[in-house]
Amino acid sequence: MIHFNDSTLAMMICCAFFAIFSLINVSNALQSLSLNGQWELNDSKNSYKGLTGNVPGGIYSDLMDNKVLDDIFSGYLDETSKWVPRQEWIYVRNFSVTEELINHENINLVFDGLDTFAYVYINNEEIGQSKNMFVQYVFDVSNKLKVGENTIKVHFMSPVKISEDLAEKQIHSYVIPPVCPPNEYHGECNVNMVRKMQASYAWDWGPSFPSVGIWKDVNIEAFNSTIIRHVVTDVLEDDDNDTWILNIDIYLAPSKKTITNGKIEAKIQLNNQVITKVFDVPVHATNISVVCEIPKGSVHTWWPNGYGAHDLYLLKVRYSTEEESEVSTKEVRVGFRTIELVQDPLGEGYSFYFRVNGIPIFMKGSNEIPIDVLPERGQDKKKIRRLLQTAKDSHMNMLRVWGGGVYESDYFYDLADEMGILIWQDFMFACALYPSSEDFLENVLDEVEYQAKRLSGHASIALFSGNNENEGALRDDWYHVKQNFTLFKDDYIKLYIDTVKTKLEEITHKRRIFVASSPSNGKKTDEEGYVSNNPSDQQYGDVHYYNYLLDPLNPMILPIPRFASEYGFQSLPVLESWLEATSNQSDLYINSKFVTHRQHHPLGNAEILAMIHREFQLPEVTNERYIESVIYFSQIIQALAIKVQTEYYRIHRSILHPDGRGNTMGALYWQLNDVWVAPTWSGIDFAGRWKMLQYYTQDFFAPVIITGFINVQNQLEVYVVSDLLIKTFSLSARIKVFNWNSLTPAIEQNITVDVEAGSSKLIIAEVIHSLLDNAQCGSGSEATENCFIHLSLDKSGAQVAPDNYVFPAKIRDCNVQDSNVKITSVKKISTNGTYSIELTTDNIALFVWLDSHTIPGRFSENGFLQVVKQRTIFFYTDVETSEAELSKELTVITAVNYSK
Ligand SMILES: *[C@@H]1O[C@H](CO)[C@@H](O)[C@H](O)[C@H]1NC(C)=O
Ligand SMILES: *[C@@H]1O[C@H](CO)[C@@H](O)[C@H](O)[C@H]1NC(C)=O
Ligand SMILES: *[C@@H]1O[C@H](CO)[C@@H](O)[C@H](O)[C@H]1NC(C)=O
Ligand SMILES: *[C@@H]1O[C@H](CO)[C@@H](O)[C@H](O)[C@H]1NC(C)=O
Ligand SMILES: *[C@@H]1O[C@H](CO)[C@@H](O)[C@H](O)[C@H]1NC(C)=O
Ligand SMILES: *[C@@H]1O[C@H](CO)[C@@H](O)[C@H](O)[C@H]1NC(C)=O
Ligand SMILES: *[C@@H]1O[C@H](CO)[C@@H](O)[C@H](O)[C@H]1NC(C)=O
Ligand SMILES: *[C@@H]1O[C@H](CO)[C@@H](O)[C@H](O)[C@H]1NC(C)=O
Repeated sequence: MIHFNDSTLAMMICCAFFAIFSLINVSNALQSLSLNGQWELNDSKNSYKGLTGNVPGGIYSDLMDNKVLDDIFSGYLDETSKWVPRQEWIYVRNFSVTEELINHENINLVFDGLDTFAYVYINNEEIGQSKNMFVQYVFDVSNKLKVGENTIKVHFMSPVKISEDLAEKQIHSYVIPPVCPPNEYHGECNVNMVRKMQASYAWDWGPSFPSVGIWKDVNIEAFNSTIIRHVVTDVLEDDDNDTWILNIDIYLAPSKKTITNGKIEAKIQLNNQVITKVFDVPVHATNISVVCEIPKGSVHTWWPNGYGAHDLYLLKVRYSTEEESEVSTKEVRVGFRTIELVQDPLGEGYSFYFRVNGIPIFMKGSNEIPIDVLPERGQDKKKIRRLLQTAKDSHMNMLRVWGGGVYESDYFYDLADEMGILIWQDFMFACALYPSSEDFLENVLDEVEYQAKRLSGHASIALFSGNNENEGALRDDWYHVKQNFTLFKDDYIKLYIDTVKTKLEEITHKRRIFVASSPSNGKKTDEEGYVSNNPSDQQYGDVHYYNYLLDPLNPMILPIPRFASEYGFQSLPVLESWLEATSNQSDLYINSKFVTHRQHHPLGNAEILAMIHREFQLPEVTNERYIESVIYFSQIIQALAIKVQTEYYRIHRSILHPDGRGNTMGALYWQLNDVWVAPTWSGIDFAGRWKMLQYYTQDFFAPVIITGFINVQNQLEVYVVSDLLIKTFSLSARIKVFNWNSLTPAIEQNITVDVEAGSSKLIIAEVIHSLLDNAQCGSGSEATENCFIHLSLDKSGAQVAPDNYVFPAKIRDCNVQDSNVKITSVKKISTNGTYSIELTTDNIALFVWLDSHTIPGRFSENGFLQVVKQRTIFFYTDVETSEAELSKELTVITAVNYSK
C-alpha cells in the first residue's frame, strides 16, 4: 500500500488547482463492448432450444418471456417449476470484434454477476468458471478473440445438484446442518453449501426459485495502460483542525505491459471550491491511498433522515498516461459524517447505540428482504425507489439488509445515501452452520473483498454484520450439534472472524463497524470468544424477539433490549393482491390448500387466527365475508402489535431499570417488503400495497410521539418521546377519556410539558380505574369496556405528534357502537394525482379502513380511530383516474361492520 500522507508531499499535492481539468475532453479512450442484450438459450439436453435469453437476466424471467412457464408468482408454480433448477442452461451469443479492440495489451471479459455455477467459453474454448453470485468475475481473454464474429457461451450447472454434491462430499468429514428446510417451505436442500442467495431455496416468507443466469452487466474491456476498478472512500473527523479527513483508496487493474508514466487525478467538488490531487502511479501498483483534508466549512454535514440534509459531494478519479492516449475514470459520492457504535458500561452490560455526528440517534426502521426473489428483477429502479421512498416517508432512518438475501444494487445504496437511510449490512449468511473448507473460505474472501470495496464507501453504510442468527443457532443448539460444539464453534470463528472480519478490516483499515452476528452481544460477544453464553442478553448488543403465544398488545411481556433489530407478526395481504396470485376465488379461505401452501411458517395460520381471536369476534366461517374479515383483522393485529412494541422500545431510550435493562436505542421491525403473495410479516405486500402496519409506521416512528400503556399496577402511564435535536417547551399533552357512545370526550386533562432533546418523559402515571371513575364510565370491568383513553399533543394549538389511544379492555369486550362512516366527497386537488376524501361519522369509528381496490395508490392515513365528526384524508396515485372513478372504487369499513 502506498500512502501519500507524508505531510510535505501531502501539502504539495493537495488543494492545488489544475486548470488542465477544464481543458481535457474526458473521452474515455478505454474500449468497452457491452454483451448485454438478447442471447440464445437452450438446455443441455436440448429439450428446450431456440429460446431467447436476456442479459442481464435469469432463467425464470426468460422461461416466462418464452412462454415456457406461466407467471411463476401465481398458483403453485414454485412447486411445478422445480425442474428448472435441475436442468443445465446454456446462454450463447455471437458478437463482433474490431481490429482496434483486439489491438490492446489487455482484454478482459467482466461479469458483474454470474448466478452461480457457470463454465464460460469463448469460441468453444473454456476461459473461466464461477462459483459465487456475489463476486465480479474478470477473465483474461486477450488471446481468445478474433477479428470479426466470435461466440460466447455460458453454461450454467444446476445449483440444486451442486449443493447436493457438495453436501455429499462434505459428509466424508461431517454433516453441516440444517440439511433441508422444514417441509412447509417446499424448498431445496443444502443451500449453506453454496454462495448464492440463501432465500432462493425458500424461506418462511418466500418461495423456492433457485435461479441461474447472468444477473448483472457483462462487458469486454480493452486497454493498454491501466484502469480504475474501485474507488473506496472513508471519512474521519479532525476536530483540532476543523477538517474532515477524506481517505481515498484507488484500486487499479494494471496492465500486463510496464507503464512508467501513469498518473491519477482526484478531484472533489465542494460547496464553493474544487480540491484536486495529482500524483504519479508507481509501476505495477494495484492500489493507491490518498488522504485529503477538507475544511469543514466547505461542505455540509450528511445527516440521517429526520436530522438534516444528506448532501453528497462528487469525487472524480481519473487515470491517464502522459500522452493522454487512454483515460479511465470513476465517480463516487462522498457524505461527510461520523458514525460510531457506542458500547460503554451500562447497567450490568454495555450500551449499544449509534452516535452520528456526535449525536446519539435512535434507529427507526425495518428489515429489508431481497427486492425480488429473482435477482435480475431486484435491479428494478422504480421498485427500489418506491421502497426506499416509503421508508423515508415513514420516518425510518435505518434499514437492515438481511443476511439471507443479496448485497443490493448500487442504485439501492445510492438512494440510501441520498435519502439519509442508514444501512445495517449483513454479510450473506443466515440461519445455518457453514463449511470452513479451504475452498469455501477462499470463495468467501473474494466475496468480502469485492463487496467491501463496492459498499463501504457509501455514506449510508453504518455497520457490517457477519451473519443473521448463526451465533444464536450455535449457542441455542438449533441443529442438535451440542456434542460437537467446539468443532462448529471453530468453523464459526474461521468463517466470520478469521475470514470475513479480517478481510473487511483490511479493506476498510479497521475504520468500519463490524459485529460478528445479528443478534449478538456486540463487544461482549467478542470478549466471550465470539460465541457468547447468551447472544440474546438484553443488556448487550441487539436482540431478535418473536413470541406468538403471549398477548402481543400487552407491552409488559416484552424484553427491554439495548437495540431491537428484529420483531414482528404475520398478516395476510388484501384480496386484490391475492387475486394477482390466483384467479380462483375458491382458493381464498384461510386454510385452503392454496393459502396453506403459501404459509411457510409452521403453524402460521393458527397463530394469526389465535391473535385475532384474542381481540376480535370473527363472523361465522360460512359468512361470505369471512376471509375478508380475517385479512382485515390480521392486518389490524399486526399493526397494533408492532405499534405497541415499537412505542415501548422508544420510551425506553431514557429509561434504565434497576435490573440494568433499558436505554433502548433502536427498533427495526421484521419485515419491510415481500417477494410473493403470501401470509408474511411484511408491511408492504408483493403488489406494493401498504398493509395497515405501513400506515401505522408513519405515526409510531414520528419524530415526536405521545404514547401510553397500562402497567402491572393497573396504572395508565403516558409518555412523550422526542427525537428532536433541541429541547421543546410548553407542549400541551391532552388526555381524554371517551365513552364509546359519544364523540364528546367525557373528561379531559391538559398537562404542560417540556421535553429534552432526544429523550422520553413520563408525564402521568394514574390508576386507570380512578381515571375512568372520574369520567363516569361505570363500575368494575364495565368501566374498561365502556371507555378508552385518547392522547394528543400540541404546542399552542398546533399538533406536534400523531394522536394515540389506549384501550383498557380487549377490543372484543369494548362497547364499540355502530358508526355510520361515510365518504361524503372525493375531490381532485392537484394535477399530480392527489385527491382529498371527506369522511363523516356519527360515532367513534374504530380502525377506519379505506380501500381504493383496483386504483393503485396510497392514503395519507389509514386504519385510524376517528373521534371527530369529519375528517379529510388524502389519496395519492400515479395512475390516471378521475373523481368519478375513484368514488366508484373507494370503500370504507370499520371494525364494527366486520364483527357482525
Ligand atoms: C495493495 O498493494 C500492495 C502492493 O503494492 C499489496 O501488498 C496489497 O495487498 C494491496 N492491498 C489490497 C487491499 O489489494
Ligand atoms: C444447445 O446447446 C448445446 C450445448 O452447448 C449445443 O451443442 C447445441 O448446438 C445447442 N442447440 C441449439 C439448437 O442451439
Ligand atoms: C495499444 O497498444 C497497441 C500496441 O501494443 C497499439 O497498436 C494501439 O494503438 C494501442 N492503442 C491505444 C488506444 O493506444
Ligand atoms: C456465430 O458465429 C459462428 C462462427 O463464429 C457461426 O458459425 C454461427 O453461424 C454464428 N451464429 C449466428 C446466429 O450468427
Ligand atoms: C492538524 O494539522 C496540523 C498541521 O497541518 C498537523 O500537524 C496535525 O497533526 C493535525 N492534527 C490532527 C489531529 O491531525
Ligand atoms: C460429531 O462429529 C462426529 C464426526 O466428527 C460425528 O461422527 C458425530 O456424529 C457427531 N455428533 C454429533 C452429535 O453431531
Ligand atoms: C384543554 O385545552 C383545550 C385547548 O386549549 C381547552 O379547550 C380545554 O378546555 C382544556 N381542558 C382543560 C380541562 O383544561
Ligand atoms: C401534489 O400537490 C399537492 C397540492 O398542490 C401538494 O400538497 C403535494 O405536495 C404535491 N405532491 C407532490 C408529490 O408533488
